[in-house]
Amino acid sequence: MLKAKKVRKAIIPAAGLGTRFLPATKASPKEMLPIVDKPTIQYIVEEARKSGIEEILIITGKGKRAIEDHFDAVPELEDNLRAKGKIKMLESVEETTGLDMYFKRQSHPQGLGDAVLTAKTFVGNEPFVVMLGDDLMEDKVPLTKQLVDSFEQTGASTLAVLPVPHEEVSKYGVIDPSEQVEEGLYNVSRFVEKPAVEDTPSDLAIIGRYVLTPEIFEILENQQPGEGNEVQLTDAIDTLNKKQRVFAKVFNGDRYDVGNKFGFLKTNIEYGLKHPETKDELKDYIKDLAKRLD
Ligand code: UTP
Repeated sequence: MLKAKKVRKAIIPAAGLGTRFLPATKASPKEMLPIVDKPTIQYIVEEARKSGIEEILIITGKGKRAIEDHFDAVPELEDNLRAKGKIKMLESVEETTGLDMYFKRQSHPQGLGDAVLTAKTFVGNEPFVVMLGDDLMEDKVPLTKQLVDSFEQTGASTLAVLPVPHEEVSKYGVIDPSEQVEEGLYNVSRFVEKPAVEDTPSDLAIIGRYVLTPEIFEILENQQPGEGNEVQLTDAIDTLNKKQRVFAKVFNGDRYDVGNKFGFLKTNIEYGLKHPETKDELKDYIKDLAKRLD
């Protein structure tokens, strides 16, 4: 068997309108909302780097300029922190600069599939990763690395899935698993976007990490809008699966969906309970609050 090409590039689609966070997202990108002290998108860029990704393209849009600025140097701020000897702060500011990052606008957001298609020239003829800008994943081995490792063994597109409560399947793309080829890795007969609860083929939902082969672009170019009148990545993956195998890998770590209000609050609390500067105070506060709520 030919050795699979190395996965070097990642796309982070971050051009969505973030309507579930209005009015906060009227002029600010949802992907810049902080989890304790870091914007969501920075955690995703960190996961990409820990997974061996060398080049990252962020798909942005109107009102999203702050994302680009966040990954640029700020000489005045850096000089000021250096002069005041605030070295830890300086390091935290410098962490997000000097990376091999690219930005492209999706002028008329028409869905995730359309956002991915925007990256065609950047990707060229290589396998690549898609990481959603509003889903955080925690595991000993980063989820993207798990998918890349799996791709390097099978040479096939692979996406991550997670069991979700049955009544929530209609919020997700869902797989129809056919057989388990190894522990947690499935062959799939169908990928279905937002099925009705009564029709769903399973409770295994597609979460925001994918390794895809470049053949997906030709499919996206010829695809009509689907559910919600958007170009759905799930539909393109379903077509790809008819031409070449696409695997689904069950994720065993923790997923934080920060794209909705409750998920965002929960994630801030959980990350706050791990952060050295906030964990003790926050724990005491939560205990006290729980007593007052009883
Ligand atoms: P979501 O559907 O969760 O994001 O897409 P959204 O559209 O911003 O949110 P709501 O529903 O209006 O509140 C998942 C990811 O895909 C990106 C989003 O920015 C988000 O990170 N996306 C979505 C695009 O880049 N382009 C699109 O056309 C749609």
